[in-house]
Order: sequence, then structure tokens, then C-alpha cells
Amino acid sequence: MTTTLFVKANNRQESVTGKLYDAFFESYRASHPNDSVIELDLYKEKLPYLGDVMISGNFKSSQGMELTLEEKKVHEIVIKHLEQFIAADKLVIAFPLWNLTVPAVLHTYLDYLHHPRKTFKYTAEGQVGLLPDKKVALLNARGGVYAEGDSSEMAVSFVKNHLKVFGISDITTVVIEGHSQFPDRREAIIEDGLKKAVETAKSF
Ligand SMILES: Cc1cc2nc3c(=O)[nH]c(=O)nc-3n(C[C@H](O)[C@H](O)[C@H](O)COP(=O)(O)O)c2cc1C
Repeated sequence: MTTTLFVKANNRQESVTGKLYDAFFESYRASHPNDSVIELDLYKEKLPYLGDVMISGNFKSSQGMELTLEEKKVHEIVIKHLEQFIAADKLVIAFPLWNLTVPAVLHTYLDYLHHPRKTFKYTAEGQVGLLPDKKVALLNARGGVYAEGDSSEMAVSFVKNHLKVFGISDITTVVIEGHSQFPDRREAIIEDGLKKAVETAKSF
């Protein structure tokens, strides 16, 4: 059975990201009735930051060393999310562009997924991703319009760079953009983007 993990990184009421997520989710559920679907709302999770305790806990665990109670507590959260991510066949990640990048909760979640020998390995030629069969859909809303490759856009490009480390290249992107820049066309831009999300979900 296919398992699809839906990750949401926005807790703003009436957010465009939320609408995008809901449209994709409902369409996906209707068109893939036999898939197992898991929803992960990052703002409802307790997500400790990457730092000394997490890094030493990850290291000690990889060396079979004993962890302190604090390290163990944090490490268990990391492993829970890491294993859920690895087990999913497909992922859908919905996030806004806020202050040129992703919400901090998504940055923190992505920190949990970098594990040598689990999501990537080091070789003489550099890092090699270990999850090449995973399929990902990125759902992003941004108020302005950004040209492909614009270095000030650090949300979609940021998430794609992380996925690349894990060897994931099958990435579908649905972006709703420009609804703040062009307020007179706001409703049409959003409606058009939601239709795209519905269609994309059917064949994802
Ligand atoms: C705190 C904050 C920061 C934002 N920063 C940017 C930005 O850097 N560039 C941009 O184009 N739009 C920016 N926007 C507009 C959002 O990208 C836009 O509202 C979009 O719909 C995603 O947010 P939402 O899903 O919460 O609606 C920002 C909005 C907020 C609330």
C-alpha cells in the first residue's frame, strides 16, 4: 500500500498555503482512496531546535553510546520524524514564503532528516542521497512574483536543495504567487492556483 505523508508548515487562519493544502489533500484523497494518508501539522508538534543536545544525542546514538536523559528525549523526537519520513512513499509539503524563506518549523523539521547512512551517505565523490524513489509535491504560496532562479527566493529553492541531499529528484511544484503584488487580480490568481492543485493531486 502507498503511504503519503502530508506536511503542513503554516498555522495562519485563512492562509493561502492552507487553502492550497486543503485543495490538494481533498483531491488526492478522492483520487487515491486506497492510499494510506498521514497528516503532520508542524505547528502542532513539539520541535526542539538543532543544537548541542540534539547533535550530541544523534552522535552518541550512532556510536552506540549512552545518551543523557535530555539527549534521549530530544533524540526520540528526531527519530520519530526521521522514520516517518523514510517510511513514506510520497510526500506533500505545504509552506508559505515568509521573509524570503520557509517558516522556522519547516527548517527545523528538515534538520531532523539529515542522517548519514539513513538519508544520505558520504562517498569519495561527495554526498549521495539514499532515497531516490521518493516522490514529492511542494505546495507554496508567495505574495510576490519571483523569476525562476531568483536568489532572493529561499523557500522552494531551499526545500528542493534539502531533498536533493536525500537523492529525491521526482519533485512536482505548485506555486500560487503574485496575489499581494497584484491585489486587483488576487482572487483570480488564488482560484487558478487551487485548480492547478486539484488537477496535480489527481495524477500525483
Ligand atoms: C510574515 C510574512 C512575511 C512575508 N514575506 C514575504 C516575502 O518575503 N515575499 C513575498 O513575496 N511575500 C511575503 N509574504 C506574503 C506571503 O508570501 C503570502 O501571504 C502568501 O500567501 C503565503 O502566506 P500565507 O499562506 O500565510 O497566506 C509574507 C507574509 C507574511 C505574513
